[in-house]
Amino acid sequence: KEYRIAIIVGSLRKDSFNRQLANALVRLAPGEFSFSDVKIGELPLYNQDDDARQAESVLRFKSRIREAHALIFVTPEYNRSIPGVLKNALDHASRPSGQNAWSGKPAGILGVSPSAAGTAMAQQHLRNILAALDVAVLAQPEAFIQQKDGLFDQKGDIGEGSRQFLQSWMDRYVAWVKLHVPSPL
Ligand code: FNR
Repeated sequence: KEYRIAIIVGSLRKDSFNRQLANALVRLAPGEFSFSDVKIGELPLYNQDDDARQAESVLRFKSRIREAHALIFVTPEYNRSIPGVLKNALDHASRPSGQNAWSGKPAGILGVSPSAAGTAMAQQHLRNILAALDVAVLAQPEAFIQQKDGLFDQKGDIGEGSRQFLQSWMDRYVAWVKLHVPSPL
């Protein structure tokens, strides 16, 4: 019995704080949860003309989403919304009409930013988009994380100051996934 979780990171930056958060977060999950890092940086720009013949990279991306029981989005905030690369990926896997790969999946959202608002606006936008895509997003706790020294320790784990909070986030997420997927195949 294994829950397959697709993690989607909204930053392509090599030293991304959000990627570091994703890497540290998965270590807080129980052993029956396995994670795949589904990359979005290789996808072409979405063009509706291509719906009838989606590119190989798009088909691969969609099948990796379909294979997952549930999703985690870890994304920065760009100009008070989600990065364009993430919106591009969301649009790709939602199409063609009637073949939305996101549909019905439970999800969690987190983000880290140097700003005190901790990606709150981006997360709110993302919730709006995911509602349209028929994704069931965990409502609480909200994870608005501020990047500062000590957020990660030297091993890349969550530092002491945030560990308990992020563990409780993960525990709630695990319960949310199990509620939606009682027996994973
Ligand atoms: C940002 N940044 C940012 N931060 C924020 O809290 N709110 C915002 O609206 C924005 N806007 C924004 C726009 C653009 C185009 C960039 C490049 C950056 C700063 C951002 O939080 C910071 O660069 C993070 O380090 C990005 O996340 P990663 O790449 O470290 O995961």
